[in-house]
Amino acid sequence: MSCILVTGGAGFIGSHTSLLLLERGYEIFIIDSFINSSRKSLERIKTIRKLSNSDFNEKLHIYEGDLRNKNSIKKIFEDAKYMKKKIEGVIHFAGLKAVGESVLNPIKYWDFNLNSTINLLEVMDNFSCNKIVFSSSATIYGIGNEFNLSEDTLISPINPYGKTKAAIEEFLMDIFNNPKGNWAIANLRYFNPIGAHPSGLIGENPMGIPNNIFPFITQVALGKFKELNIFGSDWPTPDGTCIRDYIHVMDLAEGHICAMEKLNNFESKIFNINLGTGQGTSVLELVKIFENINKVKVPFAFTDRRKGDYPIVVANNELAKQELDWLPKRNIEDMCRDGWNWQFNNPNGFDF
Ligand code: UFG
Repeated sequence: MSCILVTGGAGFIGSHTSLLLLERGYEIFIIDSFINSSRKSLERIKTIRKLSNSDFNEKLHIYEGDLRNKNSIKKIFEDAKYMKKKIEGVIHFAGLKAVGESVLNPIKYWDFNLNSTINLLEVMDNFSCNKIVFSSSATIYGIGNEFNLSEDTLISPINPYGKTKAAIEEFLMDIFNNPKGNWAIANLRYFNPIGAHPSGLIGENPMGIPNNIFPFITQVALGKFKELNIFGSDWPTPDGTCIRDYIHVMDLAEGHICAMEKLNNFESKIFNINLGTGQGTSVLELVKIFENINKVKVPFAFTDRRKGDYPIVVANNELAKQELDWLPKRNIEDMCRDGWNWQFNNPNGFDF
């Protein structure tokens, strides 16, 4: 397998995975609408490749397009064919991902996330490209009192964003079950990706006020916000703040490549796999570790609990270790250091 299509390849996880694919010698086609990402992330990928004196130009093909327009996907497969290349697999990141926005605008989420995936699978099928790694999420789990979530935890998402991810997994299951038995599919259920490439040249670039905790912390540390609001101090956890499974974006990127390489061994296969470290960190611990490793202050104040939060969300990642031969290599200190290195050197993200 040498040629891969990456949808949403300019986004946070997409850009780190694309860089890694290039480093591993893959030829990649990236399609991105750039509505929630920056073209500059791809320029930065080129810079990182140049810094390591690597030849990349003929191995990176960039397309601007919306997957809801089937022709934009078809064009890439046709171009590849014209270049006498065969796209053998797809890593599908493209999609909308803000939980709050999905509650306010469910039509937009179902339209973007489902229609784009249906188009993608149809075009893939037409071009006999039958291997896909899908960017799913731990948000699909119906979390009760289980603190160590395995892949057979009940699927019961509580917001439209999570519902679209669960629906796509179901759709992919139907595709997998078709009588031809010709699809190999990996649904990767991410926990909380943070951190950045150690170069500090690419990283998370949220538009507007960040929804997630880590970019909020880095922006408080920069002085863009006065303080971090910690949502709740009375959760049933040792220090009263919520516990999450933070995973370094580089480990996550490696997980995608392991998954794609694994699929390559099969004509027909489906995996649902958690990508998390299996280690829980509370909000207060995260703030303290961030302050200590980076020698910066992150003022905070406790506020009310956020609706829809759970006290503890931590992955059971045994299946990833067994099936993908994947192990997270970076710890929470690495995540805090690399994430701050990116933010400090790029206070406005890619909009310098
Ligand atoms: N939090 C704060 N203050 C903030 C933001 C968050 O205290 O300003 C807390 C939240 O209450 C939560 C923790 O920090 O306890 C993590 O919150 P995030 O919003 O960063 O992440 P979530 O765990 O809520 O959700 C994230 C992604 C989802 C994904 C899920 C998987 O946003 O898309 O992880 O577990 F599905």
